[in-house]
Amino acid sequence: MSEKSYKQKQERKRIVKIVEPKDRIIAALDVHTLLEAEQLVETLAPYVGCFKIGLQLITSVGAPQIVRMIHDRGGQVFLDGKFNDIPNTLGEAAAAASGLGVAMFNVHASSGIEGMQAVVKNKGSSEVLAVTVLTSFEENNAHLVFGAPSKAKVIQFARDAKLSGMDGLICSPQELSILRKQKELEGFSFVTPGVRPSWAEAGDQKRIMTPADAIIAGATMLVIGRPITKPPQSIGTPIDAAKRIIAEIETGLQGRNL
Ligand code: C5P
Repeated sequence: MSEKSYKQKQERKRIVKIVEPKDRIIAALDVHTLLEAEQLVETLAPYVGCFKIGLQLITSVGAPQIVRMIHDRGGQVFLDGKFNDIPNTLGEAAAAASGLGVAMFNVHASSGIEGMQAVVKNKGSSEVLAVTVLTSFEENNAHLVFGAPSKAKVIQFARDAKLSGMDGLICSPQELSILRKQKELEGFSFVTPGVRPSWAEAGDQKRIMTPADAIIAGATMLVIGRPITKPPQSIGTPIDAAKRIIAEIETGLQGRNL
């Protein structure tokens, strides 16, 4: 394929369209090798809307190679690089991320408004999300790191992100009810990790909710890793786990009142 037609193809891939309940699932590919990631993409492509690549795979394999593998299989990519740096470096990293044709990438809101503005300037047609307070944080961590309760910090980060022109937030589903009430955040995407079906272990995630409850609370998309990629034996395969989560999302959508 010529470089021009490759770029055109990438351009078409960027927008995440939510048509069916499965499109709300972002499967986290937290594995070490390209082969493991490839197997998961091939298995899960019909059951999820997007694939998230994070620090583990980016560091062990390299973002451009993984992104190309997922695009070649028709998937969309959320590049979870959690950028946090000075504005100039953030802007250049944003240009590189957008140049890969990813649907979404993210930056820590704690980079500040100038940093987020530098990212927005170079986001191209990718969607850029602000990481607020990690879902693995309990209240004591929020106090130690940010000097404030998690909810207060998330609201402040959300306002900074909106002011900077970001497209949405990464937050815990537990903060959605309060965020959804903020008029100035209308139009934002709310992408929530910390999602745990009742049959899955919480692991290191602390501020969690079930898929149905997160959707009822107003999540746009759910980031789900281990419950799908390493489901408990009683659930079966990653496909079985994804199907159960799709059913929970359907239930959640019926109970939603946004
Ligand atoms: O396996 P699990 O469902 O906990 O995976 C959650 C994924 O979401 C991980 O890849 C993690 O890096 C990512 N993430 C998160 N909290 C954030 C941002 C991203 O858990 N605030």
